[in-house]
Amino acid sequence: MKNIVVLISGRGTNLEALLRTARTEQWSATLGAAIVAVISNRPDVTGLDVARQYEVPAIVVAHRKYSTREDFDRALAAAIDSYEPSVIVLAGFMRVLGPLLVRRYEGRLINIHPSLLPAFPGLRTHEEALAVGVRIHGATVHFVSEQVDGGAIIAQAAVPVRPEDDAATLAARVLEQEHRLLPRALRLVLEQRVSFEGGRARVRGVAPEDLALLSP
Ligand code: GRF
Repeated sequence: MKNIVVLISGRGTNLEALLRTARTEQWSATLGAAIVAVISNRPDVTGLDVARQYEVPAIVVAHRKYSTREDFDRALAAAIDSYEPSVIVLAGFMRVLGPLLVRRYEGRLINIHPSLLPAFPGLRTHEEALAVGVRIHGATVHFVSEQVDGGAIIAQAAVPVRPEDDAATLAARVLEQEHRLLPRALRLVLEQRVSFEGGRARVRGVAPEDLALLSP
């Protein structure tokens, strides 16, 4: 069985999309894969309730309890490793992971970021997109590298920016696509279709439109 561990910090709507897809598509039977744990760095977030609704262990490794980032990373790694995951998904995980952790999980650690990277890394991506006036915005699933939001891109989803948008309406349009994009990208990784070549992610046996979701 390929174990998947999902890391969250909050609301957990991307987590819900993953759990729902895994259930609907019967990943345990079709891919031999299962989401075996959800780990949050914050207690009392709704994403932990989402995990419980799907009867997945909901674990808290509270960063506030650790005085250094290294200590937190060590505790997090211990929690992750106890599930022997093939893939670790950052689904709204809002802490930057230290280099030791990134290296430890290199090639099996993926993140969803709410912009069309390399545009708008970091936080407040929707505000920045509106401030700059881009006409197209979106989301990216990528491998995590030591450069924050800088790892190899696996798949992206694009949405139009509308003249009447504010950050909330734009975020909602992007989020809807995130919920399509993340389960698809994770499935490709589980199917071992994704590899690194020359610093880029190459995906085999997939129609280009499955890696570039466009919505009107
Ligand atoms: C998403 O927009 C994700 O791209 C970003 O944080 C947000 C998490 O939302 N990294 P949710 O917790 O999945 O609802």
